[in-house]
Amino acid sequence: MVDMDTLVSLCKRRGFVFQSSEIYGGAGSVFDYGPVGVLLKNNVKNAWWRSMVQERDDIEGLDAAILMPERVWEASGHLASFTDPMVDCKDCKRRFRADTLLEDIAPERLTALGTTEPNEEQLAEALVGLKCPECQGELTPPRTFNLLMKTELGVTQDGSNVAYLRGETCQGIYVNFKNVEMNGRRKLPFGIAQIGKAFRNEITPGNFTFRTREFEQMEMQYFVREDQAEKHYHAWKSARMAWYLERLGIRSENLRFRNHEKLAHYAKAAVDIEYNYPFGWKELAGVHNRSDWDLRRHSEYSGKDLSVFEEATKERFIPWIIETSDGADRAALVTLLDAYDEDVQDKETRVVLRFHPAIAPFKVGVLPLSKKPELMGVAKDIAADLRTRFFTDYDESQSIGKRYRRQDEIGTPFCVTVDFQTLEDQAVTIRDRDSLMQERVPIAGLAERLTERLNAPWSPESARAVKSERAS
Ligand code: GAP
Repeated sequence: MVDMDTLVSLCKRRGFVFQSSEIYGGAGSVFDYGPVGVLLKNNVKNAWWRSMVQERDDIEGLDAAILMPERVWEASGHLASFTDPMVDCKDCKRRFRADTLLEDIAPERLTALGTTEPNEEQLAEALVGLKCPECQGELTPPRTFNLLMKTELGVTQDGSNVAYLRGETCQGIYVNFKNVEMNGRRKLPFGIAQIGKAFRNEITPGNFTFRTREFEQMEMQYFVREDQAEKHYHAWKSARMAWYLERLGIRSENLRFRNHEKLAHYAKAAVDIEYNYPFGWKELAGVHNRSDWDLRRHSEYSGKDLSVFEEATKERFIPWIIETSDGADRAALVTLLDAYDEDVQDKETRVVLRFHPAIAPFKVGVLPLSKKPELMGVAKDIAADLRTRFFTDYDESQSIGKRYRRQDEIGTPFCVTVDFQTLEDQAVTIRDRDSLMQERVPIAGLAERLTERLNAPWSPESARAVKSERAS
């Protein structure tokens, strides 16, 4: 498995991810996606949207606002309990998340607690006698710290228009529940899906884009009868795991489920899909049975009736919610980590990102063999034609070897090479990123052939098959 430093440096060098506001020294744990990264993340989001909204008849899409008034967050329970336990160093004033600090400097004490989700009292006990890892100063006992980011709407700053940047996208779904139900003439069970930014003032962000203060969520809330909740919870659990395996092409040995021991204030059951990151097994996504907590609370706090009437049973009730919650940044990070491979041939190491073709930023790279104007002219025409169908990168800089290396490092499944023979036979070579096999194809049928190959069955194992054959 690739280490994080290598991946971070590849991401910067090849235009996947940059530190935000880097020329000013960088914003704390906020990242920007570069020209290649934005394509990757868009492909991840499109794959999610396609499977949730386009391919299903029972889920509506939504794009709710980021700014939401204080009352929403009182109702959701976030103002009271969206907190992390933190400790401060009395000398150097650095701030740490208590559980992360223990994990870093005294993991044996954390293990001795016998739980992966200790409460504040347990953390306080485990921290006794420990010093600041930066300056050996004295640490405060753990205190809770609210993660929501606060702002004010309008010109007055007297506290009467307090709003928060949403800490989770699903609240925008709950406040629109009745709008969507009535507008779509929906009956239970049905879902509402949304992709959008969320903000959390994380105390210890880190591990690149794994935990940041501004990130994107892909959340779907499925509204059901209480007696159907468990059935739908299990169905969504399997569906989300299948999405990572089949649509993102993540290797099964790097994914697992972990049931929550300690449940969030709203949850009746919760499970994480975890990934085996270079820094250990950690959360990638979650599936939660949120009961009727959210709609009940928003009914109480808004004074609006959010119940539904079921014609068949003549019952009126507040729906239960099964939530699927995925992070677009974490999903993009996992596709990068999982795709990373090093292929050693003739003592040379080729770095290659073996992305699922549907997720790869560019589908095709078009490369003239040399900078001869006749070759460049044909190659540019081919690229212009292919661009009408898929993301195509045209590259004429540097030697052909270096250009192949760049396409491998950004995970382009196919390179089309225009050589001198092309001028005679009107054919080009398709080079396969994974097997390195070459195929000669007439320009006239190139787009169709590439479409066929891009849609062919693909698996992370098949992408590595030639490499393992060589090794054995
Ligand atoms: N609505 C439920 C909810 O927000 P969560 O477990 O706090 O649940 C869901 O977050 C997902 O959002 C996580 O599994 C992760 O993919 C992503 N996520 C949460 N906090 C994040 C952060 N600080 N940086 C990047 N992604 C984050």
